[in-house]
Amino acid sequence: MKLLITGSSGLIGSELVTFFDSRAQCIVGIDNNMRAEFFGPEGDTRWNLERLRETTRHFYPHHLDIRDRPGLACLFESAGPFDLIIHCAAQPSHDLAASRPFDDFDVNAVGTINLLEATRRYSPDAVFVFMSTNKVYGDAPNELPLKELDRRWDYACTEDYDGISEQMRIDRSMHSIFGASKVTADVMTQEYGRYFGMRTHCLRGGCLTGPHHSGVELHGFLSYLVKIQLLGTTYRVFGYKGKQVRDNIHSYDVARAIEEVYQNPRCGEVYNLGGGRQNSCSILEAFDRVEQLTGKKMRYEYIDQNRQGDHICYISNLARFQHDYPRWEITKSLDDILREIVEAWKVRVAA
Ligand SMILES: NC(=O)c1ccc[n+]([C@@H]2O[C@H](COP(=O)([O-])OP(=O)(O)OC[C@H]3O[C@@H](n4cnc5c(N)ncnc54)[C@H](O)[C@@H]3O)[C@@H](O)[C@H]2O)c1
Repeated sequence: MKLLITGSSGLIGSELVTFFDSRAQCIVGIDNNMRAEFFGPEGDTRWNLERLRETTRHFYPHHLDIRDRPGLACLFESAGPFDLIIHCAAQPSHDLAASRPFDDFDVNAVGTINLLEATRRYSPDAVFVFMSTNKVYGDAPNELPLKELDRRWDYACTEDYDGISEQMRIDRSMHSIFGASKVTADVMTQEYGRYFGMRTHCLRGGCLTGPHHSGVELHGFLSYLVKIQLLGTTYRVFGYKGKQVRDNIHSYDVARAIEEVYQNPRCGEVYNLGGGRQNSCSILEAFDRVEQLTGKKMRYEYIDQNRQGDHICYISNLARFQHDYPRWEITKSLDDILREIVEAWKVRVAA
C-alpha cells in the first residue's frame, strides 16, 4: 500500500503518518510548513516533522507547496501511483482568511484541484479523501431553534438533538472567506467523483483535535485553550456568552474513519465527521474540565462580539458515516482528548 498525505506535519496529517506507518509500505508526505507563515512561530510544525522522522519507518517527507502544479506532477510521476491520497494541507483558519484571501483561495481551492487533477492523470484508481469542514454550511446551522442553558447553547427541538446532517444546505449563508474556499474544494472533490468516476470523498470536520496540534488563537480550539491555561495567560472569548458549542474528535478517530473509507470506497461521497454529541462542549464547559484536570484557574476575557459567520451550536450528526461504515465509532472521549492534550502541552511548555 502506497500513500500520499498532504499537510503531513499538521495535526491530522501527522496522525495519519503514524497510523498508517505500520500498515503501508510507503508514505509520501507533502508539507511546506506554511502553517508557520500563516500563524507565526507558534504555528511552526517542524517539531512535529522531527518527531515523525524519529518514530516512523516508511515515511518520506517532501517540502513541497500544493500550489506548485509542475512540482506535484513531478512527485506523482516519480513516487506514484498511490493507492490512497489524503489531502489535509490547508489554510485552516476561518478568521485569518479575510486578511489573506488570495493565499487562502490559492491553497484551499486551487491546491485541491491541483491534487485532484494530478490524481486523475497519474493515480486514477487511488482512493482520494479530502478533509473538508463544517464551515461549508456557513452560518446556516445558526437558523436552527436554540435554547440557552446555564453553560451552553443547545438545540431546542428534539429532532435536532443528534446534530447537523449532510442535508443542511451549503449556500445562501455566510461562510467566511475560508468557508467559501473550502466549499469550492469540497464541491470540486465531489465533482471529480461524479463526473470522472473517481473514488473521492469529502469529510466535513467538526473540531478536529489531539496532542499534536500546534494550536494558535486563530486555529485549534482545545489545543490553544489548554496551552493558554498552562501558560497562565488570558484566553479571549468572542461573543455568544462563551456558550458556543463544538464537537471534538481526536485525530486518531479521524484516521480510523479514513481507514474504513479506504477499505470500502465510494464515488463523490460526503460525510460529516466530528465528535458528535458525546464529545461536544461549550467554551465555558471546556474551561471547567481543563480546570479540573490541571487544578489551575482559567483566565479569560470576554469580547462581546462574535466571530463573523461563527457557529453558535455545532454538533456533527454521525449517522450517515456510521450507516455506511458500521465498524467505526468514537473511541476517545472528550476527557481522554483533554488529558492527552494537557500532557502533551506540559512537555512542550517545559521544553
Ligand atoms: N483542526 C480542525 O479543527 C479542523 C476542522 C475542520 C476541518 N479541518 C481541515 O482538516 C485539514 C487538516 O487540518 P489540521 O488541523 O491538521 O491543520 P494543520 O494546520 O495542523 O495542518 C495543515 C498542514 O498543511 C500545511 N500546509 C499549508 N499550506 C500548504 C501548502 N501550500 N503546501 C503544502 N503544505 C501546506 C501546513 O504547514 C500544516 O502543517 C485541513 O484541510 C482543515 O481545513 C480541520
